[in-house]
Amino acid sequence: MKLIIAANAEEAGKKAFLEIKTAVDRNPRAVLGLATGSTPLPLYNEIIADRKKNGTSYKNITTFNLDEYVGLSANDPQSYIRFMKDSLFDHIDIDMKNVNIPCGTADDLDAECKRYSKLLSEKVIDVQILGIGGNGHIAFNEPGTSFESTTHITPLTEKTIQDNARFFDDENKVPRFAITMGISEIMRAKKIIIIATGANKADAVCNMIKGEVTEQCPASILQRHEDVVCILDAGAASKI
Ligand code: PGA
Repeated sequence: MKLIIAANAEEAGKKAFLEIKTAVDRNPRAVLGLATGSTPLPLYNEIIADRKKNGTSYKNITTFNLDEYVGLSANDPQSYIRFMKDSLFDHIDIDMKNVNIPCGTADDLDAECKRYSKLLSEKVIDVQILGIGGNGHIAFNEPGTSFESTTHITPLTEKTIQDNARFFDDENKVPRFAITMGISEIMRAKKIIIIATGANKADAVCNMIKGEVTEQCPASILQRHEDVVCILDAGAASKI
């Protein structure tokens, strides 16, 4: 695992952007794996700024998002598809036909998981962006999830519900289930960029990098991937 310590979250975003830019310049048809949450926002701001300044095109780029809340429609301000449009897609020239994100309001959620897994199996993600949960989750693969998992429906842990409550006006409105890419699918990506910023991530980061590889810390599986870049700020790096 290659470690990069950035001065702050904005710098971490700049470092992550260089990896995306390299992939897109090398292959304008690259497949990118994208994440939601606060952590990737500085990265998305860099992508948008570069698009404005240098005209970098994402027209032929394909994207796969990691997860979506169950029960939130595409128009819900808290849905991850809405988040991605607001934070990135509406500001670059991506073709929405090439955007993939699980549908959290599908009538048959099991069928939706199978559909997403099949799509993923037909492509190889060139660069996967990841955040990490305070409990060591990657995507919504909560502690205890099998390393062999594929796209599935998962209950959210109490810790994740509390962590994500800041985006909602009432904790009771945080969905209790999500549809998430599985760990085996994340591990198929050619390259993984995991970003963690803030001291609240320090324990999870330490377990990911130095701890035992265990399903109790889903991110620890990344020790077994051959091309991981871990971008941290000082707070997130404070316990390693
Ligand atoms: P955050 O979430 O970026 O909002 O901290 C990260 C995660 O839970 O994976």
